Amino acid sequence: MAEFKVTPWEVSGDIDYDKLIAEFGVEKLNDAMLERIKKHTKELHFMLCRKVFFAHRDMKFLLDEYEKGNKFFLYTGRAPSGPVHLGHLMPWIFTKWLQDKFNVELWFQFPDEEKFLFKQEMKFEDTQRWLNENMLDVIALGFDPKKTHFIIDTRDAGLMYKEACKVAKKITFSMVKSTFGMTNENNIGSIFYTSMQAVPAFLPSVLKGKEIPCLIPHAVDQDPHFRLTRDILPKLGHYKPASIQCMFLPPLGGVEGKMSASSAAEQAIFTTDTPEMVKKKINKYAFSGGQVSIEEHRIKGGNPDVDVSFQYLRMLFEPDDKKLQEIYRDYKTGKMLTGELKAILIEKINSFLKKHQAEREKAKAKVEKYLLKR
Ligand code: TRP
Repeated sequence: MAEFKVTPWEVSGDIDYDKLIAEFGVEKLNDAMLERIKKHTKELHFMLCRKVFFAHRDMKFLLDEYEKGNKFFLYTGRAPSGPVHLGHLMPWIFTKWLQDKFNVELWFQFPDEEKFLFKQEMKFEDTQRWLNENMLDVIALGFDPKKTHFIIDTRDAGLMYKEACKVAKKITFSMVKSTFGMTNENNIGSIFYTSMQAVPAFLPSVLKGKEIPCLIPHAVDQDPHFRLTRDILPKLGHYKPASIQCMFLPPLGGVEGKMSASSAAEQAIFTTDTPEMVKKKINKYAFSGGQVSIEEHRIKGGNPDVDVSFQYLRMLFEPDDKKLQEIYRDYKTGKMLTGELKAILIEKINSFLKKHQAEREKAKAKVEKYLLKR
């Protein structure tokens, strides 16, 4: 078995998601659960059908409550540390769908101290610059400002700190060591940090003075935080948050690990990339499951399962199942060439980014609407 690693700070190797389910103790999203979700949403998002969102915790509890009229709120987040890339957008696009379908509030956390504490070279001033940039990408996705609240750790510390302390008091250093693999060498801010990430899972309940269930859509690497959160919250008189977890969008160079802004810039497509940059990155760097020559490709066909362009279509850019299946078949039989497959993806990404970048510009005037009232 190839080695892989999934922690909130590092994702690498050929990830075996079934093994991860067992290791983390999350539940696989099975068809019965999808049907149950569909009862409320009428249709299923392709990220659910295709098991891009593949696991959960406590969805049964969440839907039981929902069916009793006890609505939940959504909670997700982003630690500002660099430009937003396509991999970040994946869970956020799904979160937007959940917000629309269930008509619920979203609390979006920007822990602007997280990467400052965890990354040696990160300056606090830089996290603030990225915070301002990253908020634009979230707004650009179209979240309803009336139902969406940005919670920024240092800005909203006045609201959060008291609650974080209540969480922190229940967490020992040895729990943090065993959950995150921390050591005596970690700075004490990073040891405390998980209590800040726990807060949005119950802050709306505190502010409204009644217990409201919480659903956290997130990439599976964040699960250790919420494992701890789930242990602690009942001790503070709150519900355990439910969660729904997605896989990682692979980096351009191959299906291992995840798209990351900190690895080589050639491995990620950023939301601010120009059409020419997208074209060049896909053509030059997107790992291909095709054969070395056209002749050979026509005879043997390509392998869509390892082809990064196909995976981007499957996970993010081609919602139409029929079209996706056609591409799969044509590529596998050799009827479609790698260049043709890449051209489809480039077109999809660039038309998405054209709209996204226009919305991102407009977002500059909207930030205020999303911030918490102080
Ligand atoms: N720790 C996450 C990151 O590194 C940010 C985050 C905070 C988050 N709260 C969250 C992510 C809730 C998912 C869900 O970007």
